[in-house]
Amino acid sequence: MEARVTLNTSFNNGQIDSRIFSGFLEHLGRSIYGGVYDPDNGHSNDEGIRTDVAEDMTGMNMPFVRYPGGNFVSNYDWRDGVGPDRNPFPDFAWKTTEPNTFGTDEFMKWCKLVGTEPMMAVNLGTLGPAEAAALVEYCNLDTDTQWAQARRDNGSPEPHAVKMWCLGNEMDGPWQAGHMPAEEYALKARNAARLMRGLDPSIELIAAGSSGRHMDTYLEWDRAVLETCWDDIEFISAHRYSTNAANNTPEFLAEGVVIDSILDDYAGLIAYVKGVKKSPHDVYVSFDEWNVWYKARGGVTQDGQWSTGPALIEEIYNLEDALVCAQYMNSFIRRADVVKVACLAQLVNVIAAVLTRPDGTLKQSIYYPFALYSKYANGVSLTPAVHSPTYDAGDRVEVDFIDASASFDEESGEMSIFLINRSVDQDAMVTIDFSDRQITSQGTVQIMTGDDPKLANTWEQPYNVIPTNGISQLDNGVLTIEVPKLGMAVTTGISTNTRE
Ligand code: AHR
Repeated sequence: MEARVTLNTSFNNGQIDSRIFSGFLEHLGRSIYGGVYDPDNGHSNDEGIRTDVAEDMTGMNMPFVRYPGGNFVSNYDWRDGVGPDRNPFPDFAWKTTEPNTFGTDEFMKWCKLVGTEPMMAVNLGTLGPAEAAALVEYCNLDTDTQWAQARRDNGSPEPHAVKMWCLGNEMDGPWQAGHMPAEEYALKARNAARLMRGLDPSIELIAAGSSGRHMDTYLEWDRAVLETCWDDIEFISAHRYSTNAANNTPEFLAEGVVIDSILDDYAGLIAYVKGVKKSPHDVYVSFDEWNVWYKARGGVTQDGQWSTGPALIEEIYNLEDALVCAQYMNSFIRRADVVKVACLAQLVNVIAAVLTRPDGTLKQSIYYPFALYSKYANGVSLTPAVHSPTYDAGDRVEVDFIDASASFDEESGEMSIFLINRSVDQDAMVTIDFSDRQITSQGTVQIMTGDDPKLANTWEQPYNVIPTNGISQLDNGVLTIEVPKLGMAVTTGISTNTRE
């Protein structure tokens, strides 16, 4: 199959915000206990943090990690997780016993070790604005006041300086502790935002949007929240977990179409509210939970039976899942004007990029596209005009085989191109054509592919789905990249000259 992607450096959708390559870590299953934190493990440092896990996380180049939930946060009292007295409590969300030995200060240490920054979620389910503001005081203030002093007493003389804050989690969902109607949440979130920002005007705030497109209140919830909170927030959150429960690979691989349409929905809604309010203020999307999740979902996989660190929702990721994850990132890059933050949900053991055993870690298939994109998608997002053969993707109708995004670093003049081939049986030769530039150097290509969409990395065979070197050709300024079937190709370090 042949396809063409036409680019022009004047046609871009703005700066790619590196925060779209953030992650999410929740107190859930073996994510914290037996995952990032395991004092009894030989790989752990004096703080009980597993350094091998931390090293894998560093390899993902995440600017921010969202914490501590998720559903967990809506019944969590952060005050139980700081200081010398830690008592276990029953976690409503996942029916586990939370020992509280890992809390805010331990998370800050983990972030430093990994080389990322905290994005803290506050409980607006069972707690409220006062406790949220107290957490801002604890983390960010240098005052002689109760919670700032408590932080110093607990061993952190300097503020943690947390820049990003989520105002609750999925409050539209009946499963959420403290679930409430949109108007009620919006008022609560606005009150929390005002208190929190009153203490630290530099913070950025994310209101909880719809928990998914499947919700009856999708967009209506978001509209109500945006209309009430508009001037008090920087972001509205979006969440999605993709499924191939129908076991239909071609249709699953057209998932990018749905991701695009969600971003269109939010772009339209945000523009609408901005217009109604005649406001100079801007609000962007924080897509702070996204991933594939359907194999280890529901029933016993989500019931911790009151144990600590049980193996919950430990999804095994394969090649087709990795290709769908790459499509999320292509969509985020293409809509750089709308999405400024996004978090892979999640990172360790729970619907995770990395699995742990006492003796080591396993990078799942989805780890690799994330690490490639977060490293190489720098600069502005070029708008790709894709000329590709199409296929019938069922409910998703006629879809391009080739999905593309591109970045251009104006300073270095280098470009990266991210291509996915949705075909299950045809390799693609994709020609890259710049209408305002001449390609002078073809850069290097890394591909991920395989014959079987279900191919996964296992403890016995950890390198089944990993990047390998790909092939490209530069002939008379025309760059052609080979994108294998069921595959993706990330081409980096492409240099260009302006056309004479
Ligand atoms: O990431 C797992 C769960 O999915 C989160 O706790 C919740 O926010 C979402 O429903």
